[in-house]
Amino acid sequence: MNLYRQHIFPYLLNKVSSKLDADRQRILPYLCGDVLELGAGTGANFSFYSEQIRMLVALEPEAALLRMAARQRSALEAKQAGRLYLVQGDGHDLPLASSSLDAVLCCLVLCSVPDPQRALSEIYRVLKPGGNLVVFEHVKSQNAVTYAFQQMLNPLWKPVACGCHLQRDSLQLIQQAGFNVEGLQTYRHADLPALVGTVLEGVATKPLE
Ligand SMILES: C[S@@+](CC[C@H](N)C(=O)[O-])C[C@H]1O[C@@H](n2cnc3c(N)ncnc32)[C@H](O)[C@@H]1O
Repeated sequence: MNLYRQHIFPYLLNKVSSKLDADRQRILPYLCGDVLELGAGTGANFSFYSEQIRMLVALEPEAALLRMAARQRSALEAKQAGRLYLVQGDGHDLPLASSSLDAVLCCLVLCSVPDPQRALSEIYRVLKPGGNLVVFEHVKSQNAVTYAFQQMLNPLWKPVACGCHLQRDSLQLIQQAGFNVEGLQTYRHADLPALVGTVLEGVATKPLE
């Protein structure tokens, strides 16, 4: 399993990731200021961050993925790489001060964190009032048959996809964490297979106090 987690899964993640470049290009411009990317994986988002980013903390728990992310960073221009900090850490316990960030990116991560409620309450804590949670997540299907398959196959999928859940209701979880979710939409992604093809995308905001 270690061999799979350290070598095969990172390779597969990289392969799949490149199919989502157009999506990354669309959502990343929503981020500006001081930003956290939760679960940065192989660093597939790095080249899509805009000039509006002042500082980017890319947090990732898995050492093998962090090494690949470091390689992605070294391919960036010096100015861009200089404001990107790679941190090995856990989204359940963010090593960041409360109300310190302008935005957080969750890109295909809320499906994988073991306790999404806790991760979202940490995200809420570190965002400034009015701060943005930018989301691109595959979620539970709105089609009853597909949802039944997601539930049935999840126990097989989860170990293969290193903890990813097929059928999380991330919209509800984000709302329950206290965010304003008017800027989020759920849709069927044309290029993804049905099991992971229902996508939650957009910007949730932490209310102004
Ligand atoms: C499907 S990958 C997505 C990677 C990347 N965000 C992307 O867009 O390609 C899921 C990521 O969530 C990370 N993850 C899992 N549990 C986590 C946790 N407790 N805290 C932070 N990240 C976590 C995984 O290590 C992995 O990098």
